[in-house]
Amino acid sequence: MPRIAYVNGRYTPHIGAGVHIEDRGFQFADGVYEVISICNGQFIDIELHLDRLDRSLFELEIPWPTTRRAFSVILREVVQRNRVKNGSVYLQVTRGSSDRDFAYPENLSPSLIIYARKTLRDTVETASVGYKVISKPDIRWKRCDIKTVSLLPAVMAKQAAVRNGAIEAWLVNEQGMITEGTSSNAWIVTLDKKLITRPIDNSILSGVTRQTVLNLAQKLGLNSIERAFSLVEAKEAKEAFCTSSTALVKPIVEIDREKIGDGRVGPVTKVLIENYLRHMENPT
Ligand code: PDD
Repeated sequence: MPRIAYVNGRYTPHIGAGVHIEDRGFQFADGVYEVISICNGQFIDIELHLDRLDRSLFELEIPWPTTRRAFSVILREVVQRNRVKNGSVYLQVTRGSSDRDFAYPENLSPSLIIYARKTLRDTVETASVGYKVISKPDIRWKRCDIKTVSLLPAVMAKQAAVRNGAIEAWLVNEQGMITEGTSSNAWIVTLDKKLITRPIDNSILSGVTRQTVLNLAQKLGLNSIERAFSLVEAKEAKEAFCTSSTALVKPIVEIDREKIGDGRVGPVTKVLIENYLRHMENPT
């Protein structure tokens, strides 16, 4: 069955789908995106993703390309046409196309592209493998709260991670504090079993999975604290993990080749994985 993408009002074969060469997303990274995971044909936390999209668009003064209601209908249509039961949907809104100029005409029509992708569904077993991360200086801009398609520093750091046999790079600011991963939020568990993750500010993306995990932790009676933590503290932590819509909850057992705790997936991380997978089965 051929894959179908949505591009500016049309459902079109994925293989030839494209936008104009003067689309500002292509030339200036002048656009925003979301990745929403799909489990059993259902979107996970879709309203939280659309809320964040709304905020990203607002911050860049890009209008919604359709109404929010129509947007949800198109997202569902793309998923159905591609028969995606488990996987994710990628959506991108750019400011639109016009003659290349840093300043933009005020009346541009935004571009919208959407496509879906199938992936294997995680089980507690597949999700409980320990992963490695490396650290890299955080050289990104000062508005990481906006989910823009301007991702080059993240691309460079992720490539370095992959070359070093790691799944993610944790980004470290000039104060030695970990901000987040290239495409995920970073967490540690202290020796006294407290969950620590950086508070929301302009230096990180407000992850939907991060918020869901904070909610789950509260329901489970786990103590979580939103505060900055350093690379040094992370290396001395009992457990570590990262969260994102595609990684879900991923255990981290090594940072820069140094073991975290005993180098195995810890009990707190395991409980969160189980509960996050349960949340995906029954998203509320
Ligand atoms: N990335 N931080 C950054 C920089 C991210 O790019 C992402 C998500 C997250 C986690 O956000 P969420 O839990 O809402 O997925 C944190 C997506 C998955 C991506 O770019 O593919």
